[in-house]
Order: sequence, then C-alpha cells, then structure tokens
Amino acid sequence: MFPRGFAWGAATAAYQIEGGWQADGKGPSIWDTFCHEEGRVFQEQDGDVACNSYELWDKDLECIQQLGLTHYRLSLSWARLLPDGTTRHVNQKGVQYYNKVIDDLLASDVSPMVTLYHFDLPQALQDQGGWKSEGIAAIFDSYAMFCFQTFGDRVKLWITINEPSVCAKLGHEDGVHAPGLKEQGTAAYLVGHNMLRAHAMAWHSYDSLFRPEQKGAVSLAINSDWLEPLRPGCEEDEAATGRDLACTLGWFAWPLFVTGDYPEIMRSAIDSQSEKLGYSGSSRLPRFSKDEPAILGTADFFALNYYTSRKVTAGGGRGQMCMKSDRDVEEVLDPSWFICGVSWLAVVPGGLRKLLKYIKDTFGSPAVYITENGFSQVGPVQMEDVRRCELFKDTILEVAKAIEEDGVDVRGYFAWSLLDNFEWADGFSVRFGLFHVDFSDAELRRTAYRSGREYGEMIMKHKRPTDVQ
Ligand code: GAL
Repeated sequence: MFPRGFAWGAATAAYQIEGGWQADGKGPSIWDTFCHEEGRVFQEQDGDVACNSYELWDKDLECIQQLGLTHYRLSLSWARLLPDGTTRHVNQKGVQYYNKVIDDLLASDVSPMVTLYHFDLPQALQDQGGWKSEGIAAIFDSYAMFCFQTFGDRVKLWITINEPSVCAKLGHEDGVHAPGLKEQGTAAYLVGHNMLRAHAMAWHSYDSLFRPEQKGAVSLAINSDWLEPLRPGCEEDEAATGRDLACTLGWFAWPLFVTGDYPEIMRSAIDSQSEKLGYSGSSRLPRFSKDEPAILGTADFFALNYYTSRKVTAGGGRGQMCMKSDRDVEEVLDPSWFICGVSWLAVVPGGLRKLLKYIKDTFGSPAVYITENGFSQVGPVQMEDVRRCELFKDTILEVAKAIEEDGVDVRGYFAWSLLDNFEWADGFSVRFGLFHVDFSDAELRRTAYRSGREYGEMIMKHKRPTDVQ
C-alpha cells in the first residue's frame, strides 16, 4: 500500500523533551522565560527537565529502535547551539549533543528529519524584538546556515520553522504561548511575515550553498485543520470556508506554492475589516519586498501537521481588531466526532484524506510528508490505549487511500509524539506519546503504550528492506 522509501516516523521537539535548560552553556529561550512566569502554564509546570532527553538520549534511541522507525523528526534548540542566538558564540557542547543524536540515528538506520525552529526562540533575540523585528530573518538565516554547515553532511530532510501560524497566533495574538504577547490584529501577521522571509532566506542559502553537495530537501511545516462548510451548498458557509482556508493553510502555503504572496481573499478580508474599524495605517498584512529573496518555490516538499477538522459557518464577532474578526467565521465541531483527550482534538481521519487531496489539487501535486499527527490522553494513564490504536490505524488507512485512490504523493508519516512530553501551556497533563514517560520516576522511565507497540507492528508489516535512505 505504501510506496518504496515511505518514511515511517515519529516526532519530538527540543523544548518538549530535552530538559537541561541551563546545561553546559545553553542560553535561555522564550519558553524558559514564559514557563518561569506565574500563571502561564498548567500548575506552573515547565520544561526545565521534561523527559531529560539531553541526558537520556540513549533511552530515546532505544524507543526509536523498538518501534523500528525509518525516520525520526527532532528539533534543534537554537539557544543550546547559539546561546545568544547569533553565530558570534557557538556552544560546542550543544554541537556535540546533536552530533551524537544524528550519528546514533544513522548508525541505527534511522534518517533524521531536523526542524531548526520549534517555538523556542533564544531569549536574547526576543529582547531585540523577536519575530516582530525585521532583522530576525537574516539572523535566522545565519543560524540555518550554521546548521546546514555543521549537520548537513548527514541530515537530508530539513524543516526550517514548525507551524508558523501557531507561533504567530498563540504567541503574539492570544498570548497563551511564549512570548505571551496579546497584540491583537497586527503582531501575528508581522510575525508570520518575518517567518516566511526567514524561511525563504534559509531555503535560498541551502539551495545555492549547500544543496549541490548535500543534496537534501528543505521545507516549512504547516499545520492545517481540514475545513468544510457547516451547511454544504449554502453560499455564505462556502464563502466562509474559503476565507478560513485562505487565512490558515493559505497564509503560508499560498506564498510558498502558488504566487509568492498571500491569498487575495486573506488580504481583502483583513483590509476590509481595517476599513470598517477606521484603521488608517497601511495594510496590517505586510507586503513582500521585491528586493528580497523570492518566497515562491521555496518548499521542496509539503510538510503537513494534521490533527483535526472543523465545520465552518459565517460570522465570528465583527467589530474588533483581531484575527477572528478578520476571518469572520465560526468554526464548530460535528457532534459525531470523537474528542480525544484535549477539547480541540476532534478526531476525523477522513479529514486528512480530504486535506491531502485539496493540497494536491491546490498546490501543484507536491510531495507531502505528514510531519505530525497524533492523539492525546488526559487523566488516568491507560497503557492499553485501545482507542488510540484504532485512531492511528484509521488515520493511516486514510493516508493509504489518499495515495492509492487520489494519487497524492505522500512520502511519509510522523506520529506525534515518540514520548509523552511537555505539552506547552498544558504542561504534562496531556500525553501524546507512543511511549509513556513516568514523570514521577527519577529515571523518567519510558514504556511503550499499546499504541506504540501496534505502530511498531504496522511499520514492520509495511516497511521494505530498502526503505532506509
Ligand atoms: C503541534 C506542535 C507540537 C505538539 C502538537 C500537539 O501544534 O507542533 O509541538 O504540541 O501540536 O498539540
């Protein structure tokens, strides 16, 4: 059912698993700062230790081997490598840590997919304006080049930035992620814009300086729900769905894959709302400069994080300067959908298939990696998590159908996550792991859930001996 070379993976992110927040010269990141402020995270928890993967990497590797993964997606902690965010000072201990991780993976026939940025900006850069500052793009480019130079002989799959819309919106509009800003209706668009500029600069650097020798591929991980009209055929709901898709998936995918600029629907939604509010400045959605590297064509594959679906209807509280008013939509859950752990996670495996088909049709049949997909549990731990087993199976079956019946060029699937970990503002209360982590145990023991064992069996059944790249 799955093509040769299909990547069977699992994913993690540095801040969520590593711990060692001050170890061996690491600089602080915005998540260190955010968690140490009162009232930010569930029960004042933080990622100071998390799964302690900084010290227990060998244990993680055992989990990876036990599952038989062909690929492992990890992220680098920018502040562990470059404590103040710039290449002026390199923390060699950080380099050694990631060298070991990468070498160990390769020695186990596991290909690394490496994310350069998964929400954890060095605090020193936040102090200079963070993602809102224009200069961040060039600084990110230097960091990216440093990583290509240092690890690119062995890493062939790169993600520059994970989920820019989540960083932008939750971190700068809603204030529930680091850096905790609530500058509604403006900051998130600026942050998203600078993230696209940063990504494009790094892609161009890779393309001209590293690709000829390293021969890898670079993309940006876009999270998207599948969205469909609440009342199919109803003109208003159809338009609302189009607007919502343009302002979420389209926000990043349109510039990368279609025009090099934001979708027209998105710009006009924002601008018409500005007009209604009597906002007189220039568009709150910035414009790309012709003097900078082009955005169009700077994704070598489509990296998709998919978790859930929504039904969309018109009207989302007009009259305020905020993203919700700009979109002017209401997203609702279908009562038949199973809610898995956290309230936002309505599981809709068929939504993934529809989204994959939409991506194929809208973005020119790109190669797609599903870089995240998973299911959480909350409350008393269930090691025999039969329901999650079913959800993985149902979802992977939909991926198979997308490949076979819809002709989508899906190249891999990464389960979120290898381990239970620090789930951002939810702390350790939400468990997404294929492996349970006992956070009350000094050794932070990892034990496979039934879903982990079954995912491993599925991989065994489907992977072919030549799958390792
Ligand atoms: C994604 C994020 C991950 C993880 C996951 C589950 O948005 O990239 O870090 O937290 O959601 O909520």
